[in-house]
Amino acid sequence: MCGIIGYIGKRNAVSVVLEGLRRLEYRGYDSAGIAFFSNKGIEVRRRRGKIKDLTSMLEPENLTSHTTIGHTRWATHGKPSEENAHPHRSNGIVLVHNGIIENYLPLKKKMIEKGYQFTSETDTEVVCHLIENYAREYPLEDAVREALKEIKGAYALAVIKEDEPDKIVGVRKDCPLVVGLGEGEFFIASDVPAFLNYSRDILFLDDGEVAVLTSKDVKITGLDGVPVKKRVQSVSWSPSMAEKGGYKHFMLKEIYEQPRAIADTLRGRFNAESGSVNLEEFGFKEEDLNSLEKIFIVACGTSYHAALIGKYMIEGLVRIPVEVDIASEFRYRKPIIKSGDLMIVITQSGETADTLAAQREAKKLGAKVFTICNVVGSTSSREADAVFYTHSGPEIGVASTKAFTTQIVGLYLFAISAGNIKGLISEDMSKEFLRELLVLPGKVEKALATDESIKMVAKQFFKARGFLYLGRGTNYPIALEGALKLKEISYIHAEGYPAGEMKHGPIALIDEELPVIVLVPKDNLYDKIISNIQEVKTRGGKIISITNDVDGEVCDISDKCILVPETNLYLTTVLMAVPVQLLAYHIGVLRGCDVDQPRNLAKSVTVE
Ligand code: AGP
Repeated sequence: MCGIIGYIGKRNAVSVVLEGLRRLEYRGYDSAGIAFFSNKGIEVRRRRGKIKDLTSMLEPENLTSHTTIGHTRWATHGKPSEENAHPHRSNGIVLVHNGIIENYLPLKKKMIEKGYQFTSETDTEVVCHLIENYAREYPLEDAVREALKEIKGAYALAVIKEDEPDKIVGVRKDCPLVVGLGEGEFFIASDVPAFLNYSRDILFLDDGEVAVLTSKDVKITGLDGVPVKKRVQSVSWSPSMAEKGGYKHFMLKEIYEQPRAIADTLRGRFNAESGSVNLEEFGFKEEDLNSLEKIFIVACGTSYHAALIGKYMIEGLVRIPVEVDIASEFRYRKPIIKSGDLMIVITQSGETADTLAAQREAKKLGAKVFTICNVVGSTSSREADAVFYTHSGPEIGVASTKAFTTQIVGLYLFAISAGNIKGLISEDMSKEFLRELLVLPGKVEKALATDESIKMVAKQFFKARGFLYLGRGTNYPIALEGALKLKEISYIHAEGYPAGEMKHGPIALIDEELPVIVLVPKDNLYDKIISNIQEVKTRGGKIISITNDVDGEVCDISDKCILVPETNLYLTTVLMAVPVQLLAYHIGVLRGCDVDQPRNLAKSVTVE
């Protein structure tokens, strides 16, 4: 996700916009830029790097203006660079964009045929040329409306036009856009923090609404041009709370962003009607798959837990042997990996030293590498043969949450597309798998609704000396993930274990003091895990079950029962992940831990 802001009014618009970009930096920070009206028309300044780099570059110019737009980028298409930074320009049209244009390739072809020259790798530039084309016969707001009729995807736009200096047009679909109301000045931005110092009176735009800001007023209409009545809302957040969207911590905000993060990661990548998945992002051709004999997956930490789930998915749906390694172990075990093998690298940051070392080792030994990564232009993504980007937006909290669940989604799409190609998944099965994916964001919303119950569990057990997490099958990695989240956020020792393995040792830990979190989906292992719960109960252990079995016996035999929606055995992992993320968060808060920046940890471990 990116941050956009526009200002029109009596202050120095350049300073207002630069300050607003700094407050939006949590939304993305690989490059930034502004466009402002001066006596030369519209001028644009952009650069790779953080807002402070742009600000220091502009300082000597002492720029002033009354109408300015700005953008801080979180790259989704095209590496972080000055050319790909926003604002983008097409003759007299200049705009900034947050979102993903799904049909940008056919539109780019059409605009090239119309004679437009492209200077960036972004999807955004297409929108710029399209609006410019319409602006030759329409006023700006109508040109925007006409252009959007051809656009598919998600967008929040702020657009200005050289010969209409007293106007900013904003529009949104599936990406946030808010208008700030001042005295003779108006703001438009991705999020409230951008202008909270100047205005707390907000119009929250809805999808398909167009805002036309001038120095006199703001007009809101639909895409059809019909005026829309909006209620002015006043926010009382402090600026720092506003940067967290009103949440107390980035971690909680990012846990709650998972429905959108998953929806953004899915967007444009499959067709549930036809049951087809767009495989080219994995860098695969059909013949590659048919000759593929072995797959390796390497990762660290939470990404390693996604890798373990990937093994279940790929071996289950594609029937190719998968070896999963903790990245720091891979290159020291003399791995038997050869040319023609595939390595899947999973890394949120794309900069984890252990993971990069394993990736380079695999390349050196001749394997093909594709990375599932959340940061465009990161080292892993640049060195891989192919990249599948999780569009979860910047993950600020050190504990990985939305990146984790979008990694699982990426692996799921790969497994379905590969299984399709190998003829192991029928069209009907593929449609069923993809239908479950379409409704997953909604089911994650329901899993988030367990928050209050989880908070009660946290209150009861936050003083415990340790926790045991148990799961079977695809939920064994979720047991590991739940234990890791708790350890890194609350500093309580916790173990994740395959439930069937508990009797081979960890059962000695069980007593009345030890909370045992058990992941109990209704699947073929249900009865076995019920017996494991009984083994814990007979030794006085406290059972907190996370299950989708509404009326089954599991809740009767548990001390606490958290219900999540049902789905298939692979996507159940996403729904089980949410309560364990929330539990770690609430226990960490109750123990007064620094939840966003836990002691001893870093967001990206760039040392071995
Ligand atoms: C997860 O909550 C941790 N912060 C950590 O284990 C992390 O997953 C690990 O360092 C890997 O990071 P990456 O995904 O950026 O490679």
